[in-house]
Amino acid sequence: MTRRYSIVALPGDGVGPEVIAQGLRVLRKAAERFSFAVQIDEIPCGGHYYAEHETEWPDGSFEKCHAADAILLGAVGHVVDGKTVFTRPGKPYPQPQLAGFAQVIGNRQKLQLYANVRPIKLYQGVPQKISDRFERVWKPDKVDYVIVRENTEDAYSGETLDIPGGKQTPINITKAATERVVRYAFQLAKKRNKLGKVTCVDKSNIIGAHAYFREVFTRVGREEFPELKLDYAYFDAFCLLQLQQPEAYDVVVAPNLVGDVISDNGSFVQGGMGMAPAGNIGDHHAMFEPIHGSAPTLAGKNVANPLAAILSVSMMLHWLGETKQDAILVKAGARIEQGVAELVKDGKHLTQDLGGKARCSQVGDALVKAL
Ligand code: IPM
Ligand code: MG
Repeated sequence: MTRRYSIVALPGDGVGPEVIAQGLRVLRKAAERFSFAVQIDEIPCGGHYYAEHETEWPDGSFEKCHAADAILLGAVGHVVDGKTVFTRPGKPYPQPQLAGFAQVIGNRQKLQLYANVRPIKLYQGVPQKISDRFERVWKPDKVDYVIVRENTEDAYSGETLDIPGGKQTPINITKAATERVVRYAFQLAKKRNKLGKVTCVDKSNIIGAHAYFREVFTRVGREEFPELKLDYAYFDAFCLLQLQQPEAYDVVVAPNLVGDVISDNGSFVQGGMGMAPAGNIGDHHAMFEPIHGSAPTLAGKNVANPLAAILSVSMMLHWLGETKQDAILVKAGARIEQGVAELVKDGKHLTQDLGGKARCSQVGDALVKAL
């Protein structure tokens, strides 16, 4: 019997719709090839939608996300008069009612997608753009670790308080949210069976709430995962270390804002944001997305790299296959990843961020053909 999965697609702003279109083509092709069915519901949303409709997305959209088997998100962030607005004009970001907040932060918090899983993996053939040159600086077999970013709290509460002479944004770290995300990271390290090591990256030398995050990490690690090595780094130093010695890492866990920064920074090693997929994972729901950037200057030109979106589809199929116990989906996810690896190794269909001339849709064409 063919199993059917419902997917909500949120293309969003900027290059979001272009890269998601390619991701969906690859998903449909994989469904055809591996004999499963997908029902895709595309919902318009983001800053541009807000600018036109004074609402972030049509009524009932969150309920559709809640009901879907999985969500695929492009990016939010729309430019009006030279300013990026995923926000209601004139109001500071972030506040929960603001445009773009619903899809990214809203879904993460309301669906309790507590682990933002961001693999830093370098495929053979991918160069890094250094100044105006493309060079292969890192060795692919040395770059394969996963950042697990706490995804529901820290500085992302949406609260901004007035204080004498200014504003304050609280950094909230709770026991429950920290325990569940560090457990996720420890379990992942066991499953990967690589270095048997989890690195906690934070700013605990200065932020008390981060010291608490580290304390919970240490306790859960020692009590529940004695077979794993616990490793630590302050996040300023880690920004350098992840470039100097990416091979030293296996699973990295971090509070939300730190995870945000180190995942963008780390993506440089894997060829940039165009190569960096992510999964926002909870116990009952999940949303997959490139690690983010609507890249307004590239939008509408068919030049953005869709591979991060396509790799996000691969992650989505892995997750769906595992949670729904459908081995076909895991296979399909692996096949898509293999297709991406072969495509970049071959080097013929690279977009401009990787030194090539291929258009966004041509990369999609090549992958659809390969499948
Ligand atoms: C990300 C993005 C988001 C974040 C923005 C768009 C709110 O940078 O997914 O990393 O800060 O989490
Ligand atoms: Mg980010």
